[in-house]
Amino acid sequence: MPPRPDLPPHSLPADKDLVLKVIPMPADVNANGDIFGGWVMAQVDLAGSVLPSRLGPRMVTVAVNEFVFKQPVRVGDILSFYSSVQRIGRTSVTVDVEVYAERFHAQGRFVKVTEALLTYVAIDAEGKPQALPENAQIAAWRLGIKESTP
Ligand SMILES: CC(C)(COP(=O)(O)OP(=O)(O)OC[C@H]1O[C@@H](n2cnc3c(N)ncnc32)[C@H](O)[C@@H]1OP(=O)(O)O)[C@@H](O)C(=O)NCCC(=O)NCCS
Repeated sequence: MPPRPDLPPHSLPADKDLVLKVIPMPADVNANGDIFGGWVMAQVDLAGSVLPSRLGPRMVTVAVNEFVFKQPVRVGDILSFYSSVQRIGRTSVTVDVEVYAERFHAQGRFVKVTEALLTYVAIDAEGKPQALPENAQIAAWRLGIKESTP
């Protein structure tokens, strides 16, 4: 089937990691027949946790700092979640998550449907914040953030 002209194509971000792909099912719809926003938020929280979890300590979500539903998500969309580290604090990491949909009838064309900013905190065995480890992963992120700062 040819691509629909009403769908503006987006190119996928080359500077972010593909952290999750998922297809919403009919059980995930709201009363309008689109996908329920709470379902999308849960997937974004899972996707956002992927990079922070590479650090080692247990990480918990402390805040959803921004969340924008730019376009509706529909049953059968192939959703791709891209993430990158935006800020590194003493105990916390803030990441962005961008979600792109390939519509069921227009595969190969990507529409940005959601973007969000979330913060995760490293916790110890008592559930208290602990300092992030200074390992190779965090050094690579620090370099990436510095290079992308104008
Ligand atoms: C996460 C938690 C351990 C933080 O404990 P706390 O005593 O409030 O911690 P602090 O005030 O010292 O803040 C810890 C870090 O979180 C950051 N933070 C706190 N609130 C924030 C917010 N609204 N936005 C962004 N960052 C925030 C702080 O800036 C700090 O980061 P830094 O050390 O890198 O500067 C605690 O709030 C908690 O257990 N929350 C529940 C987590 C959870 O269950 N998540 C799943 C939700 S269903």
